[in-house]
Amino acid sequence: MEQIVISGTGVFTPEQSITNEELVKAYNEYAKKFNLLNKQDIDSGKTDALELSNEEFIFNASGIKNRFVLDKEGILDPEVMHPILDKRSDDQPSILAEMSIKAAKKALDNAGKTPKDIDAVITACSNLERAYPAISIEVQELLGIEGFAFDMNVACSSATFAIQAAADMIRSGSAKTILIVDPEICSGHLDFKDRDCHFIFGDVCTAMILERKDTAESNNCFEIISTKCITQFSNNIRNNFGFLNSAKKSSPLDRDLLFMQQGRKVFKEVVPMVSQLILEHLNEEKIQTDEIKRLWLHQANKSMNDLIGKKVLGRTPEEYEQPNILQDYANTSSAGSIIAFSKFSDDMNKNEIGVLCSFGAGYSAGSIILKKIS
Ligand code: COA
Repeated sequence: MEQIVISGTGVFTPEQSITNEELVKAYNEYAKKFNLLNKQDIDSGKTDALELSNEEFIFNASGIKNRFVLDKEGILDPEVMHPILDKRSDDQPSILAEMSIKAAKKALDNAGKTPKDIDAVITACSNLERAYPAISIEVQELLGIEGFAFDMNVACSSATFAIQAAADMIRSGSAKTILIVDPEICSGHLDFKDRDCHFIFGDVCTAMILERKDTAESNNCFEIISTKCITQFSNNIRNNFGFLNSAKKSSPLDRDLLFMQQGRKVFKEVVPMVSQLILEHLNEEKIQTDEIKRLWLHQANKSMNDLIGKKVLGRTPEEYEQPNILQDYANTSSAGSIIAFSKFSDDMNKNEIGVLCSFGAGYSAGSIILKKIS
């Protein structure tokens, strides 16, 4: 079978960031004002008072300390509580395309490629800015790439499913060298007025170059040994935003048009699903768990990753074996495992094996076994 490699990665990190302390202060101000304004209804039992958030809970429950965002001011303004992004004319680059270009340029440099070498672009992310034209086709145009492009969304597993799709396409001959971008503006689908989830997400964009081993020239290439993707329907992570919203007479302010989850249930159901997926995948490839030098896991919750790591390796992983970026970036949906891979793979030795694994809404989970080859 044709050998396919990831020959370059890139991460675009927004300049602005928000600490837990800043986030909690803004939320608590909002909650106190809400309670004051609705005092009568709260006293009569018509409305529930909002409880306050706190930093200790957030760090202990999730491992998150900080998140990068495209707009800090709007999120931290108790009168606004969402990012305020500039409205652009159709002649200007879209925000997703703009951040994709920044990450793509880094990945191209890292792989030693130029846009002329690329013949397909996949934008894989949880939230697309518009229905059409595809963001990927705009990225293709902005970079001057010939060939074809398309968008895909498998929520937090978008990037790993895109790796599988791209590797299969290169193997089948429909493309030679593929650029994957994962622009995630998670602050746009998060309800910062909801104490249970206001701390979860951050913004970022990752990019990867995939090609045949015989065309790859970079000195940080990982061969894709194999991919295994699974899905299983669940309503425990859901967002009802969609093109039928106005036809269904939804108000743009309806709570279900933003991210919603049953965090506890997700935790309980996804940990066994993902551990089993990785173990089955390794078994199918006849790879022993003691051969695994690194686990680049989806970054949603530190305790969840610690548990998955322990189930897969049969012992508590060392910190360097299972890098976390959650404390700095929070959950960045499909980009999280790619950030971990991009930042913690240079030091691996030739022939060492690692597993890149995403999991999230759908449910969906993707396991990619990688071997460092240069
Ligand atoms: N500050 C203080 N207390 C808070 C709080 C906050 N910001 N948010 C929730 N709480 C309270 C809850 O109201 C609850 O109170 P109760 O016990 O009186 O009912 C208590 O803290 C525990 O809340 P719970 O939601 O059960 O916490 P948790 O330990 O499950 O942690 C998550 C919440 C979301 C961090 C955790 O469930 C998680 O990460 N799950 C996996 C999610 C995931 O992977 N999703 C994929 C998304 S892509």
